[in-house]
Amino acid sequence: MPLVNMKDMLDHAHANGYAVGAFDLVSLDFLDAILRGAESRRAPVILSLAESHFGYFDFQTLMPAVVAAARHSTVPVAIHLDHGASLDSAVQAINLGCNGIMVDSSSAPLEENIRLTRKIVTMARGCGIPVEGELGYVPGVEGEDAERHPGEMAYTTVDEARRYVAETGVDFLAVSIGTVHGRMRGKPELDFQRLAQINQALGIPLVIHGGTGLSDDQFRRLIDNGVAKINYYTALADAAGRVIAANASREARGYTALVAGIGDTIQAEVERCIDLWGSADRADAVLEKARPWRAVEHVIIYNVEGLDEAGTHAMMAEGRRVLSAIPGVLEVVTAEALKEDAAYRYSWLVRFCHPAVVDSYRDHPDHMAFADQHFRPVAGERISIDYQDVEDSSS
Ligand code: 13P
Repeated sequence: MPLVNMKDMLDHAHANGYAVGAFDLVSLDFLDAILRGAESRRAPVILSLAESHFGYFDFQTLMPAVVAAARHSTVPVAIHLDHGASLDSAVQAINLGCNGIMVDSSSAPLEENIRLTRKIVTMARGCGIPVEGELGYVPGVEGEDAERHPGEMAYTTVDEARRYVAETGVDFLAVSIGTVHGRMRGKPELDFQRLAQINQALGIPLVIHGGTGLSDDQFRRLIDNGVAKINYYTALADAAGRVIAANASREARGYTALVAGIGDTIQAEVERCIDLWGSADRADAVLEKARPWRAVEHVIIYNVEGLDEAGTHAMMAEGRRVLSAIPGVLEVVTAEALKEDAAYRYSWLVRFCHPAVVDSYRDHPDHMAFADQHFRPVAGERISIDYQDVEDSSS
């Protein structure tokens, strides 16, 4: 079950002087190639899904595949929402299985960035999920030409970083020290002195966005100065694009002929990054140190009093609708006993992403309102127990 706590993963990288690759994926080809690259190098890896890419795939449809692939992997994996746009996006991502969250309010003024980030951290803490914040502004859009998005770069300052981390409680900080998202002309100039000072002041894992186009030496110096997570996408997309163009120039026809070979090419680039960033052969040490990411099954078996079957089914439907939107709820299953004379006729199975959700769910206003207005008035005798998964239920 190699889905692991992302904070434990990045703390290990930070303490041991290497960086984990956070590779954005946009299709099953990317998912498969990234995991094959990580497994061949025995490296921890982050599967990253960027909200700016949600036009290319259906997030809700892709996530079950991402979770299943992560669970079947032999190396430690975390699943991360990259550049989430809102609190709602963060909740949706967590409920679909992400166990790391970034909501990007870095284009807002500092006070506003702190206020918005704090809200995300409060919600995520109730789900046991670590949060990445960004301070300063890294312009550009992953996968596109940087010149098309000429936003003004704003460098992270040490004093603001100290205040931002203290007031928001983020676990990791993405810094702006000269990188740009997307395809650049030439090499960016990076401010390593600024990075060293931020690392010294904060002592938490730092994150670099816009990994594409940096030199080997720049990567080494970033990692020497506290960078433990490197976000990387455009180079993977461009490598895949070149394969498709070459296939097309050989007059390959049809989808499968055009995309033939892109997986191997993406995998090779992932392996190059892993070798360069020092995460190769770290999988076993991370698996030993990092807490496994295990779901909790909140189980209730119960009888109903004073409600007929149609009314009971309506109550269950309302429960599925309301409860599945509470942060940290992966799934709500309602069921009835096969045998009518069962000691308990009905059941709820509510899957939480983490034990922290036991408390935050119980106290959530939507849960309390549903329980008080719909469930408790009709629930007769019942038993309620929380169980933690012992092993991966999907393997
Ligand atoms: P690149 O596309 O420039 O590698 O940046 C990726 C990124 O930072 C995703 O958040």
